[in-house]
Amino acid sequence: MRSLLKHAPAKINLFLHITGRRDDGYHLLESLVVFAEYGDEILVQEDAELSLEVRGEFAGGLSAFPKENNLVWKAATALNDYLLKTSGINYGAKIILTKNLPIASGIGGGSADAAATIHALCELWNINIPSAELSEISLKLGSDVPVCLQGKPALMRGIGDEVTEVKLQYKPYIVLVNTNIPLATAEVFKDFAVHKSLRGDDLSNAALAKVDRHATFAITDLSYVNDLEKSAIKKLPIIGLIIESLRNTQGLLFAGMSGSGATCFALYNDKESADKAAEDLRKIYKNAWCVSTRIM
Ligand code: C5P
Repeated sequence: MRSLLKHAPAKINLFLHITGRRDDGYHLLESLVVFAEYGDEILVQEDAELSLEVRGEFAGGLSAFPKENNLVWKAATALNDYLLKTSGINYGAKIILTKNLPIASGIGGGSADAAATIHALCELWNINIPSAELSEISLKLGSDVPVCLQGKPALMRGIGDEVTEVKLQYKPYIVLVNTNIPLATAEVFKDFAVHKSLRGDDLSNAALAKVDRHATFAITDLSYVNDLEKSAIKKLPIIGLIIESLRNTQGLLFAGMSGSGATCFALYNDKESADKAAEDLRKIYKNAWCVSTRIM
């Protein structure tokens, strides 16, 4: 029986600027997205019917919800619906998700899982979907799915539908810290919409200029800002404390929050500093999830 294993890496927004709001309430953003070596795993096996099993450290957080809510299931059925419509064939597969990333945590776990599922099933089923159609399917699953489908450092614009690959000049080590308290993306955006004025284009353009001109990006080039950070801290004040603790670690390049939170991250030049910082943070935040990994 044929099977395939795909990595679903954690996604980190090094900066996230909100530049506008559409009539449907979705926000326009500009974000520099990178991926970590640490992530979830998707295993697919040939089978007559579609099925989903969830394992791993954070499987419990998903088991409370029906499988229809799981982005892996949504991705598999969206792909199957498309294939049924275009070729009249209905495919099956056994999908096993190993959930190593915390749920609803701003590092795109669900989106990365959806993207890895799409890649794995296309390969298992030996199908080739035109990229425009693939982008449409992925965007319907969630704003972060297109960038996760690409899986490379990228500048993300629009509502996540415009993805431009960016070359990183080097790949720093990264520490990820999450309080294990889920934070709903919609709630953070809602708070932002009520209380914050949108970022002026000039400020955002100045920050983006270096990325655009060379399509390369040095970690030290920009002073990062996540426009959702204040709203997230308001909902979960511990985020502010974690960022502060990360700022006090040795060898730090930058500390901030990814996506709509609550995962905070810190960048380091060397593995020793990252490992030491993770060790320090685990001592302070005993219930938090904390890993030391590297940007891919
Ligand atoms: O696309 P995703 O499922 O991640 O979005 C969750 C929610 O976050 C949306 O329903 C919307 O309220 C908010 N959102 C937004 N602007 C974006 C992405 C998400 O307002 N660009």
